[in-house]
Parts: sequence; C-alpha cells; structure tokens
Amino acid sequence: MSAPVGFYLPPSATPKLERLVDSIEANPGQLLDPAELREACDRLDVRGVAERLPDGLTSEDLVGILKLAMLTECATDSYSAVFMDGAARFDSPWLARFNQRVWTPDEHTHYTPYKLMLLSLGYSEEQLDREMREVQGRQYEHCCGRNPAELTTYGIIQEYLTDNWHGMISHLLKPGAPYAAKCSAMVKRRETLHTTWYREMTAIQVEENPEMLGMVADTIQSFQMPGTRLVPELGGRSLEWMSKTNVDFARIARDFVRNFQQVAGNVKRAGQMFVDLAARRGMRVGPVPLSAARNVLDKIGGPGYGLIGEAVLDKFGIPRPTSASQTGPISLPPRMYEAFRSRIRGMVAQRVAVNSIIGEV
Ligand SMILES: [Fe+2]
Ligand SMILES: [Fe+2]
Repeated sequence: MSAPVGFYLPPSATPKLERLVDSIEANPGQLLDPAELREACDRLDVRGVAERLPDGLTSEDLVGILKLAMLTECATDSYSAVFMDGAARFDSPWLARFNQRVWTPDEHTHYTPYKLMLLSLGYSEEQLDREMREVQGRQYEHCCGRNPAELTTYGIIQEYLTDNWHGMISHLLKPGAPYAAKCSAMVKRRETLHTTWYREMTAIQVEENPEMLGMVADTIQSFQMPGTRLVPELGGRSLEWMSKTNVDFARIARDFVRNFQQVAGNVKRAGQMFVDLAARRGMRVGPVPLSAARNVLDKIGGPGYGLIGEAVLDKFGIPRPTSASQTGPISLPPRMYEAFRSRIRGMVAQRVAVNSIIGEV
C-alpha cells in the first residue's frame, strides 16, 4: 500500500491558479441584487404554489424546502471561514482572493429570495431572522480536509448539489409563481458558475500533481452537505423531497462522473480514481474485493485503468474520447484489440455499481 501523500503543488501551479482567479474576477457574471428583489417582493409571493404541488408533496414540505435553501445559504460566513483558514495554512493567496472577493459576496445574496418567499407565506421577519441567526451561531463542523485540493473538491460537490436544489425549487414554483421561479433560477445559475470554477481549480491542481487525486477521492468519500450538519431537521429530509419532486437522479450521477472525469484530466486517471473510490466503498468484482483486483490493475497500469475509465463513462452514458485504434500490451491486430477492449469494457460496465462511484446521492 502506498504511503499517504501530503498536499504539494509545484511552483508552476501558482501562476496558473492566479490567472484563473484573475479571469473569474474579470468576468464574474450577473450577481443577484437583493435591493431589487426586495422592491419586487409582491412578485415573490408563492401562495399560489401550494395548490399545484406534485402528488405526495404537501405545503409543509414546500416550506421545508424553501427554509432549507434560506438557512443553508445564510450560513455563508461559516463555510467561508473554513476556506480562508485552508488558504492561509497552505499559503494559497489565489484561493483566499477568490473566496473573499468573488464567492463570499455572491453567496451573501442567495438567501434573500427565499426569505421574501417565506414572508409571503405568513412568516414574520422577526421569526425568519431569529432562525437564521440561530443557524449562523451554530458550530459548523467541516466534513472534509482543509487543504486547497480538498476544499475545491468539496466546492465542486457542494455547489453542484446546491445548483440542483435551486433548480428543483425553480421547477416547483414555475406554474404558480413564475417570477419567484425566475429568482431561484438566477441563484441556480450562480451555483453552476461556482461548480465550474471549483472544477477548474481542482483540475489545475491535479494536472500539476496527479497525486492530488487521492485527496479528491478522500473528499468525495467523506463529503456531507452542510445543510445536513447545520440544519439536520430539514437537511435530513432532502433526499425524500428530491424523490417526491421527481428529481432525475440518473442525471445527477452522470453530471457527477462527468465533473470528476474532467478533474482527472484523462480517462486513465479517471479510471484510477473511480477504482480507488469503488474499492474504498467495498465494491467486489465477483468474489474478489475490488481492493485486491486493484493490485492486479496496478500491475497492468495504464491500459487497465483506461478501460475502467471508459467503462464508467459508458455506464453513465457520457461520451468518451474515441481511442485511436491501437495495439495493446498483447500482440493482436488493432481491430481485434479494440474488439477485445470493447468486450471487457462491457463486462466492467455491467459490474460497476452506481453507488460505489458516487455514493448515496
Ligand atoms: Fe449559494
Ligand atoms: Fe455557491
């Protein structure tokens, strides 16, 4: 077993990360304007939504969904402090700058539409402010590591799932409160950008030092949504609400794999990471635990992991880069070798358990 690797980036990484943050700062996209939202508060009235909810979803559920969005978003400073701490400890001014100048001010605006929607449902401002203060005052225990590779990986997952949450709300609100739906979609678009930015930051770190992929996998493995920690009474119901609103879990799984394939940078490294994850989650190949099969794969090296990477992409319906016809380590003509690869790929794809890669969504 290889020794655990500490966080390390070669000096060439810093200018790349600084340039990425420069370009983000130069083009941060359209932020929400809380003053504008407050002026339009009549249009954020969501009382008409209750009669048009999907079967099985009650108006109490709707309140829970909106509150979870508001309370998770209002705790921005708790998450921001974790990122600032990691940036300082690992001497990463690019991450501190992104956090301070772009991410935190942006996130501070996200709870506003939800507060206004809840006001329209009869909650008093005092009560909502009190609930938010209470969550802001709770001790936030970060689920994952605090070095920059771990933090930006955490960012990818957290932002992606939050993006889905706002998208789900927008969908729910659309028939009865189209302007409120539009506001949720605006928040969703911010989270989409955040996901992309964290993905690009992580991909640069992995490109500069592929050993960082182990930390990416560590983070995927221990990830928990902040809502489940800070607002457990509502966060614990999020899966139930996602099912009731018919969220497309297959799409989430596909996006998840696609994001981390991009982080890995190539199909072979993606395969290596997916195997690592599946092995940690105790997946077996027939009677053999995957951790043992991994020893064999480590001996085969590139071609083995490349195949696993391709098989996982096939499994999730993600187009993979077409591999140029090639001869492998066994002496077969290229067409036969590709036919052999394709059979193995199919066998692996059949055996890959979705949950072993992405965990329980
Ligand atoms: Fe947000
Ligand atoms: Fe965000």
